[in-house]
Amino acid sequence: MPLVSMRQLLDEAAKGGYGVGAFNVNDMEQIQAIMAAAVETKSPVIIQASRGARQFAQDRYLYHLILAAAELHPEVPIAMHQDHGNSFETCKSAMELGFTSVMMDGSLQADGKTPASFEENVEVTRRVVDYAHERGVTVEGEIGVLGGIEDGHGAGGTGLEHITEPDQAVEFAERTGVDALAIAIGTSHGAYKFTKKPDGSVLKMDVLIEIHKRLPHTHLVMHGSSSVPKDLQDIVNQYGGKLKETWGVPVEEIQLGIRNGVRKINVDTDNRLAMTGAIRKVLWEHPEKFDLRDYMKPAREAMQKLVSQRMREFGQAGHFGDYKPASIEEIAAGYRSGKLDTRPSLAGAR
Ligand code: 13P
Repeated sequence: MPLVSMRQLLDEAAKGGYGVGAFNVNDMEQIQAIMAAAVETKSPVIIQASRGARQFAQDRYLYHLILAAAELHPEVPIAMHQDHGNSFETCKSAMELGFTSVMMDGSLQADGKTPASFEENVEVTRRVVDYAHERGVTVEGEIGVLGGIEDGHGAGGTGLEHITEPDQAVEFAERTGVDALAIAIGTSHGAYKFTKKPDGSVLKMDVLIEIHKRLPHTHLVMHGSSSVPKDLQDIVNQYGGKLKETWGVPVEEIQLGIRNGVRKINVDTDNRLAMTGAIRKVLWEHPEKFDLRDYMKPAREAMQKLVSQRMREFGQAGHFGDYKPASIEEIAAGYRSGKLDTRPSLAGAR
């Protein structure tokens, strides 16, 4: 099966009332872990690469590795997504390479650090939407600003500084026509999200629920959704790591989000922790080993285990054969005809 549109994956998820994990990748082993989990759980998947990942791996390598995944597993619908594009040019280059979905993160300026104005965000996102939809490519936008920094991208802070305002979310969706919308509800990228198990004072699920009520036809995206499980932290620390005590987003909060319009859930840190813990364990217990397969194989297995678990928890498991993936040309025709228009004033009228 060729790579498919993320829009179709999310539309189907909305129909089925489930969420789809979007897992970040940097190398072959991570792609293999995700595919093994997708096959094991019969899940559609979103594989995403940040700008940092595209630089690290050289994006043509990543693209061809993901094509290999599609070739080897034609039964799995795979959307290939640019995570946190910082400019029109970054998104355009991803589309030229063959990504079927891009995130234009106009919540920050092109430096990837400074919060942008609402008007700047609308303008750049609208430009990407126009360009992408003509080509059948899905667009995710962001309104409000996430906390933390990942791969050098992010405004820093706790995630509470720029919580999304529901009114702005509605105006943003109307003026940009994005397919999916990332909102800021107190989460942040990386391992250090919360200093204790989060409650409603720091994880604003009420804001998410309000936005979904106002924008029932827009697919919501939760970034910074790693749960940073204690057992994964413990493995890293048991074998020489030095992680400080920390809390992530509890899976039950993500599931509450899924019941309220969340269709895409971004997870990176948990997989990093799973792989790092497995590698540390091998090298700690067998300091004489130096064949990378001795530690990359357990690392890949640890990531597969975690991704499979998340696929079951998000509800995407079992859904990979529910629908016939449309071609990117068919999706482009859907945008042209207005059938796939998401602007609240039009989507509500359909
Ligand atoms: P985590 O750091 O919580 O895994 O979030 C990843 C993410 O949101 C990528 O865009």
